[in-house]
Amino acid sequence: MNFKVRAARKEDCKDISRMIMELAVYEKMPEQVKISNEELERDGFSPNPFFQCLIAEVSDENMTTDGYTVVGYALYFYTYSTWEGRSVFMEDLYVMPDFRGKGIGKGLLAKVAQVGVEKQCVRLQFSVLEWNKPSLDFYIAKGAVDLTAKEGWHNLRFYGQALDQLAKEAPNN
Ligand SMILES: CC(C)(COP(=O)(O)OP(=O)(O)OC[C@H]1O[C@@H](n2cnc3c(N)ncnc32)[C@H](O)[C@@H]1OP(=O)(O)O)[C@@H](O)C(=O)NCCC(=O)NCCS
Repeated sequence: MNFKVRAARKEDCKDISRMIMELAVYEKMPEQVKISNEELERDGFSPNPFFQCLIAEVSDENMTTDGYTVVGYALYFYTYSTWEGRSVFMEDLYVMPDFRGKGIGKGLLAKVAQVGVEKQCVRLQFSVLEWNKPSLDFYIAKGAVDLTAKEGWHNLRFYGQALDQLAKEAPNN
């Protein structure tokens, strides 16, 4: 199946929002999605964007029964490793179920890698849920290293009250 990978535009945010929810359902945590279309538009498509996004688009003859031609996305942003320098973090990679196994996921992933390498990034990093074996296998088959297994890293996060509380404890000088 022919598909095109291109940089997302502001008007793609509706499709991106839809697929963010589909991915969260797949990941069994849809209630955690709080992001609005407006926030995505502001954070991805203003002069200093917080994220970059690629989308995969198929031609009209392969459109879904609901009329969608945007069938996958990869959302990423730049981070920094004090050990190795420039890095890219891929927050989401998703392909709609009917379009899987056709090279679209690999196309998106490879494009994120290409964009990162062009910016001299030496790492492409991301997290995968422990039970998501098909995706773990997909990444490992492409050469990714499982850092939890190899080096024992845990993913940690401050959020909600814990984050607010910590922020209040910051020195004011
Ligand atoms: C993971 C995902 C993005 C892969 O996309 P896809 O379009 O189905 O994958 P592709 O068709 O591009 O696969 C490309 C290659 O990976 C291989 N591959 C795909 N799934 C695989 C698996 N489970 N195990 C091993 N290899 C796999 C294919 O055989 C193909 O190999 P080739 O390049 O040697 O021909 C897609 O399945 C998906 O959206 N899954 C649900 C959401 C998800 O888990 N996202 C990742 C969250 S971290």
